[in-house]
Amino acid sequence: MHKLSVWLVRASLIHMGIGFLFGALILHHKGIPIYGWSWQLLNPHIELMIFGWTMQFVMGIAFWILPRFSGDQRYGKVYLGWGSLVLLNSGIVMTALGIWFTQNLLALAGRVGTLSSIVLFAVLIWPRIKPLGGYAASQNS
Ligand code: HEM
Repeated sequence: MHKLSVWLVRASLIHMGIGFLFGALILHHKGIPIYGWSWQLLNPHIELMIFGWTMQFVMGIAFWILPRFSGDQRYGKVYLGWGSLVLLNSGIVMTALGIWFTQNLLALAGRVGTLSSIVLFAVLIWPRIKPLGGYAASQNS
């Protein structure tokens, strides 16, 4: 497994842990209403569960398992993936904090970070979406 996949999956697991905790607190409050502030965790919960956990996990596994190139740069332009990892995680944190503290500009900057991360990752992974075995194999399938 490439180091980039390792870090994407590790980061996604951290988001999962925190996102589950937020969800659990909201759920607990729904059953036993003792802390109203937990509803403030709803948007950060959504942000972490959708982008931080689910999407980031898929990115990590996709980078690992999709067909690789022959030769030197087997995984493609890996620096795009590292950029995507940093932008995604900082974007999610900025959006979650921006929503929590009602700082719209911060939340917007976070969303721009997340979107840029997706664009970088798409550029990186696009050429690797191809049939295994190259042209000949694709003709037989
Ligand atoms: C991949 C996993 C998950 C995703 C993508 C996810 C996503 C979401 C989304 C989009 C909402 C907003 C729904 C709405 O406003 O109608 C939501 C609400 C909520 N989630 Fe999650 N969630 C996940 C896992 C969990 C887990 C594990 C828990 C509990 C431990 C949890 C607890 C809640 C609660 C309590 C709400 C509020 C429900 C309400 O409005 O009454 N979620 N979640």
